[in-house]
Amino acid sequence: MELQGKRIIVTGAARGMGAATVRAYVRAGAAVVGMDVSDEAGAAVARDASAAGPGTADYLHVDVADRDSVETAFAEAVRRLGGLDVLAHPAAIQRSVSASDVTVEEWDLMFAVNVRGTMLTNQVARRYIKDAGGGSIINFGSISGQRPEPAGAAYSAAKGAVHAWTRTAAGTWGDDNIRVNTILPAMATPMYNEAMARASEEQKVAGYWMNHHSIALGHKYGDPDRDLGPVMVFLASDASHFITGQLIPVDGGQHSVR
Ligand SMILES: NC(=O)c1ccc[n+]([C@@H]2O[C@H](COP(=O)([O-])OP(=O)(O)OC[C@H]3O[C@@H](n4cnc5c(N)ncnc54)[C@H](O)[C@@H]3O)[C@@H](O)[C@H]2O)c1
Repeated sequence: MELQGKRIIVTGAARGMGAATVRAYVRAGAAVVGMDVSDEAGAAVARDASAAGPGTADYLHVDVADRDSVETAFAEAVRRLGGLDVLAHPAAIQRSVSASDVTVEEWDLMFAVNVRGTMLTNQVARRYIKDAGGGSIINFGSISGQRPEPAGAAYSAAKGAVHAWTRTAAGTWGDDNIRVNTILPAMATPMYNEAMARASEEQKVAGYWMNHHSIALGHKYGDPDRDLGPVMVFLASDASHFITGQLIPVDGGQHSVR
């Protein structure tokens, strides 16, 4: 019951790390509203988490790239929760496209969801978390934003922007007692499985040496419930009250931030 009394919004809650985060928070006693564009799956995740308890989970539709949608969904979530202490923001998209071929449309879509979505959700959450006297915002970056990423040029650039935004938001909102950190995960989720399915045999071999071999703890991607959930609980809890502006890999040692 480490999060008893905490009121939390989780984006990207229909699957992957967002769904695992909803489950971890409810297990720790929090009141959660999950949000996603994928409504049927998102509602099912919330329903199952609530049934398991001891906390509660609800579900609302949001498109994080759209200001009106974020304003409307967050206002309704705060009404249901009675305030807001924490935003966990895993919602994002991933596409495989090279620096040579990326189109304006692909670039703009990536930045709309992954970068504008981070700015909008963080900015709107900050107003409510400030009213509550402070709290925690947890964004999702990537090792892709820290290194050359030949197969994911736009994704890499967008995640680099999320890292920069996190540092600036943390530096700006410390006066509101709001901490802002970013997780750099390596977890076996639908996003990961879809990227593997798109890869050629040659890319899979290169990807093994680039991504899996460097995971010191077992050479494979983690399980979001087992390996990420407890970290999400820690970063939402008061135990992490003096940690802000950090890029935090939860990746078995795949990468170290310098
Ligand atoms: N899987 C990995 O190992 C890995 C590695 C590095 C970074 N990440 C990052 O971690 C985060 C979580 O990734 P995941 O693997 O759980 O992804 P996922 O694809 O399994 O889940 C992402 C969720 O976000 C939702 N979503 C997409 N666009 C949205 C929008 N416009 N509005 C609201 N919801 C939207 C999707 O419907 C989906 O439910 C992402 O930010 C991702 O970029 C993942």
